[in-house]
This record gives sequence, structure tokens and C-alpha cells, in this order.
Amino acid sequence: MNDSDKPVHNIFLIGFMGNGKTYWGKLWAAESGLEFFDLDHVIEKEEQKTIAAIFEENGEAYFRQKETDVLKTFSQKTNCIIACGGGTPCFNNNMQWMNDNGTTVYLAATPADIFKRVIGEQAKRPLIKDLSPDELIIFIEKKLQERAPVYNTAKIILPVTEINAATINTLL
Ligand code: S3P
Repeated sequence: MNDSDKPVHNIFLIGFMGNGKTYWGKLWAAESGLEFFDLDHVIEKEEQKTIAAIFEENGEAYFRQKETDVLKTFSQKTNCIIACGGGTPCFNNNMQWMNDNGTTVYLAATPADIFKRVIGEQAKRPLIKDLSPDELIIFIEKKLQERAPVYNTAKIILPVTEINAATINTLL
């Protein structure tokens, strides 16, 4: 087996909503030949409804269990880049599982950056859909503070201001 045939552990991209997990995951997959998956999209495909509809019709607890079930299907796959949902690492001990089953990469963004990226797209994000701009920045600051201890247990931490298309080479 030569180097290029070597199986690569899965790469799990984690971090707060709006931090660019899907954007960078797609780009890095195209750069590296790894297969890209967006956990939210896999869930939407399986459930045949949007994340917003799942939250509304089935509730968050249902979504969190589904999210964990879909995450764990990646134990059957290799050579994937998986963009997780913002909450994925914070429920059902998923962070521990990802650390045991791949390379976890935290794309770290500041509350101000996150605010700028999600303010126009609140409707598709159930946790923030009804918040005014003032409430939104407070929510982001509080939630990020709450989740950061989990995000910070990632094997690799990358500030979003320092990443580019070539960053994938350092992750492989
Ligand atoms: C969530 C983030 C979302 C999605 C769901 C819950 C969260 O994913 O999974 O709305 O708890 O932070 P993105 O981070 O891709 O927006």
C-alpha cells in the first residue's frame, strides 16, 4: 500500500453555527479527494424534512438523538470530512466519541464574526430564529461560553481567521 492509498481517519469539523464548517469542509474535500458530508443534510435527507421542521414537529430531544445516531454511522466509513452541527459535540457524549473515532477540528470564531454570518439566515436555525439582533448577540456570547469547554477538547483548534484552502494539508 503506498501513502496515497492509506485510509485516512474521518475528520470531524466542529464549532458554533455560522463558523464556516460546511464551507471549508466542502472546499477541503474537493482539495483532498476526501468525501464530504454535512450532518444536518444527512439528517434532513433521512427525515425528509428540514432541521427547522424537525425541531418544530418532533422537538429538540428527537433531533439530538437522530444527530447522534447519524454521527455514529461514520464508524463504518473512512476518508470523510464531516461538518457537524453546532450542538453535535455537546450532546450524548458525542465529543468523546468523535475524539475516539477520528480527528476533531474546532473552527474557532468570535461572537462578532458569528453574529455577522448568521444574522441573515436565522429562519433555518431553530435555536435563533425568533431572536432580535440584541438578543442574538447575547445568545451567541452565552452559548459559546457554555460550549467552548467542549469545543476546546478538539484535537486541533483553528481560528477561522487563519484558515484557507491549503489548511487541509496540515490536517491530513
Ligand atoms: C445547532 C446548529 C445547527 C443545527 C441545529 C442546532 C446548534 O447546525 O444542527 O439548528 O445547536 O448549534 P449548524 O452549526 O450547521 O448551523
